[in-house]
Amino acid sequence: MDCFRIEGGRRLEGRTRVSGSKNASLPLLAAALLVDGTVRLRGVPRLRDTDTLLELLAGLGVRWRRSGARDLRLEADPGGPTEAPYAVVRRMRASVCVLGPLLARRGRARVALPGGCVLGPRPIDLHLRGMEALGAEVRIEHGTIVAEAPAGGLRGARVRLAGERGTTVLGTINVLFAACIARGRTVLEAAAQEPEVVAVGEFLNACGARIEGLGGPTLEVEGVEGLGGAETVVPPDRIEAGTLLLAGAISGGRVRVEGCRPAECGPLLSLLAASGVEVAVGPDWFECRPWRRPPRAQGLVTRPYPGFPTDLQAQWMAFSCRCAGVARIREGVYPERFVHAAELVRMGARIQIGEGEARVEGPVRLQGAEVLASDLRASAALVLAALAAEGTTVVRRVYHLDRGYERLEEKLNALGAAVTRRPDPDAP
Ligand code: EPU
Repeated sequence: MDCFRIEGGRRLEGRTRVSGSKNASLPLLAAALLVDGTVRLRGVPRLRDTDTLLELLAGLGVRWRRSGARDLRLEADPGGPTEAPYAVVRRMRASVCVLGPLLARRGRARVALPGGCVLGPRPIDLHLRGMEALGAEVRIEHGTIVAEAPAGGLRGARVRLAGERGTTVLGTINVLFAACIARGRTVLEAAAQEPEVVAVGEFLNACGARIEGLGGPTLEVEGVEGLGGAETVVPPDRIEAGTLLLAGAISGGRVRVEGCRPAECGPLLSLLAASGVEVAVGPDWFECRPWRRPPRAQGLVTRPYPGFPTDLQAQWMAFSCRCAGVARIREGVYPERFVHAAELVRMGARIQIGEGEARVEGPVRLQGAEVLASDLRASAALVLAALAAEGTTVVRRVYHLDRGYERLEEKLNALGAAVTRRPDPDAP
């Protein structure tokens, strides 16, 4: 198991390039199960999560090969297995996105039920209700979802994807997968509007699906007999782009993030501007500029897209430690997603956690310490805090970070950071 040793206090400076989106790549890879023919994906990031999904897909009869470092060709055996085992699903909850394709294409699916995680309870009731609305019989047997399509196949229906906290990203994608080759018309109400949903929907349309309304809350799908192969480029990772911009901002430096889509990062850019950090924006890049006086604290509420993303909340909390004043940070998506706060406090942060809300007081001088990463975005927040801290920070369990950031330490070091990856001598 690796750890990062980070010497803090250096202003980052320079240009960096964003990788392909993790959360678009995962369902795009899973789409191979739904398609007759070859799926060609370009710009798939080399991450632990994409490797995990490829391992799962191989076990489900998908043959894949690389045609370049980040380019993949995938082809599924239509009669392949239908079981996603717990050994893989417990490593990555997003494995659940094979449910829709397996059920629709192979008529049945057995997918281990993902458990809770460090973000709090993460139910999948909306996925299952969606499949039932399309005519599937769904039951839970010994910790496994067992879903079966009716004799004549799935049939179109009206499906509402709203739960207590709004809509669901992977639930929308799962039902969309199934609806593409269901008989007749499906209307998905309260669908997720995230750019990753749009990317998957556009790819499915390129494969012959008939989906309308992508990017809006209502999707209309006219079922087709089957889908053929197609090619696409994975869109840039908006969460990585935001993380890199905040790495520049927390260090008081000048960092240009290239290859991103600024329009997808609106709330982050507005908040940075309100804090007093100057940000220049181009068609496919943004750049933070050095600040002299501490930025002003800005509170926020995380929300589904186009709101402020929960996947940048931890990083914003780290940045808020350097801002003057009080930032109230509310979680509207995962009310318990504050595990990183306790580790930031070990670095000198002043943070209090109330119900679904963190109160961050600044500015503080962060100090290097030994800290433990608890999940992917929490790890990113600790790395950002370490960049701004006095002295040395050791971030343990960086395997969480490797799930979703491609060579983050190399990207940061190219900007002047001092991050060393080494085996963790204290790892169990
Ligand atoms: N929810 C339900 N019922 C469901 C599904 C979700 O109540 O059936 C609730 C969840 O408990 C949560 C909210 O709805 O409160 C949103 O969850 P969602 O289903 O949208 O999350 P997801 O699709 O499982 C994706 C990303 C997450 C990201 C969330 C929210 C992928 C692979 N994962 O998860 O990314 O936080 O959307 O934007 O796309 C990450 O990359 O670090 C990460 C956790």
